[in-house]
Amino acid sequence: MIIPEPYRIKAVEPIRLIPRPEREIKLRQAHYNLFNLRSEDVFIDLLTDSGTGAMSDCQWAGLMRGDEAYAGSRSYYNLESSCRDVFGHRYFVPAHQGRGAENVLFPLLIKPGQMVIGNMHFDTTRAHIELKGGQAVDCVVPEAYDTSDGHPFKGNVDINRLEGLIDRNGPQKVAFLLVTVTCNSAGGQPVSLSNLRQVRRVADKYNLPLFLDAARFAENAYFIKKREQGCEAKSIREIVREMFSLADGFTMSAKKDGLVNIGGLIGIKENRDLYNRVRANLVPIEGFPTYGGLAGRDMEALALGLQEVVEESYLQARVGQVEYLGKRLLDAGIPIQQPVGGHAVFVDAGKFLPHIPYRQFPGQALAIDLYLEAGVRAVEIGSFLLGRDPATGVQIRSPLEFLRLTIPRRVYTNSHMDYVAESLAAVHRRRDKVRGVRIVEEPEVLRHFTARLDLL
Ligand code: F0G
Repeated sequence: MIIPEPYRIKAVEPIRLIPRPEREIKLRQAHYNLFNLRSEDVFIDLLTDSGTGAMSDCQWAGLMRGDEAYAGSRSYYNLESSCRDVFGHRYFVPAHQGRGAENVLFPLLIKPGQMVIGNMHFDTTRAHIELKGGQAVDCVVPEAYDTSDGHPFKGNVDINRLEGLIDRNGPQKVAFLLVTVTCNSAGGQPVSLSNLRQVRRVADKYNLPLFLDAARFAENAYFIKKREQGCEAKSIREIVREMFSLADGFTMSAKKDGLVNIGGLIGIKENRDLYNRVRANLVPIEGFPTYGGLAGRDMEALALGLQEVVEESYLQARVGQVEYLGKRLLDAGIPIQQPVGGHAVFVDAGKFLPHIPYRQFPGQALAIDLYLEAGVRAVEIGSFLLGRDPATGVQIRSPLEFLRLTIPRRVYTNSHMDYVAESLAAVHRRRDKVRGVRIVEEPEVLRHFTARLDLL
């Protein structure tokens, strides 16, 4: 029995597939880097789920009610009460997006040389840890690295390794623990409640703070409800409260599960001193604590988005759509990270294109071919993204070579998903003809955004 989306469409935005010869020209002009394409030359844009979602009629109406006062905005107080309601933490400040929140919080927690240990850090999170002189350490369960392993919680922290790391280095060498829910870099894979409880126990044992990177918290809660024993009867709201009750605070990019196009948050459970320091640090970086880099209307829309995202019927359609695309790809014999994650299908480009070595970036080769085939833009998450060892300049080999088909929230229908699946299946049928790529020009940091490439 098909359960349709719990909404209907009120406004539409035209999209256009430019002819193949034009796609070839546009791609050449973009130096084979899909970040350089204009979005009007993309038919279906699966680059990211960040800030690309559709707002509801209530959120659009909320924009009009936004209070643009510099200090004490009503929209700030609406956001604060929505946050308290959903997360159960006492203190909140807005930020303009996730990395803004990281930039404000991390320097207050990290002393140079200290580690931040988590499941798998997102790349801007890693960058902010390193910018503060810290060391970002990934400690996810080994199942995360095997795309055919069906483990239901591939975002879990490897508890034994975590304890080993703290014991070996000493707790004073660790700034805090940071668990990313869902774990984006592992394929949008969830973390179980029992794993979070175990991480909490470790944090207590060594007296370390535990934070969440909560960009996709609601999708994580949905997976807990569906997959974790004893959680079937709990509501999404209850699960969210339980997840956050285990953490001392969180940073969040609201561009994902906040259901808004821009925004971020820092939450602090009860540490008033830390909250005061966060507020003080926010002012010169993001702005006064009652707006933190957002317009009043953005805070109003976020206050509403947080309430909409914890609706189970919404999450069922959302995660169901990603699962639907995953199933279509599996039916076509395409290797993907299994089980399918919450926000994207991660195609195993290493297995898809075994003739292309990591130095020729199979994920990027596949992204290029899919755009030429169908005007679909996806993103490489593999060795091209990872870059070079800063000390030696040698290309690092990523343990996984992914092509991420990231699904914006409430934007595309399943017939768009059918089109994407059929297009990728067409590439799969002639996969041995797909060519690797080489880098022609690259900047020193975050090269994947601007590097110029060529086909081999
Ligand atoms: N943490 C996670 C887990 C993320 O996925 C992102 C962004 C951030 C932090 C940073 O948030 O973009 O609001 O500053 N992920 C996007 C992506 C960009 O495409 O996966 P931001």
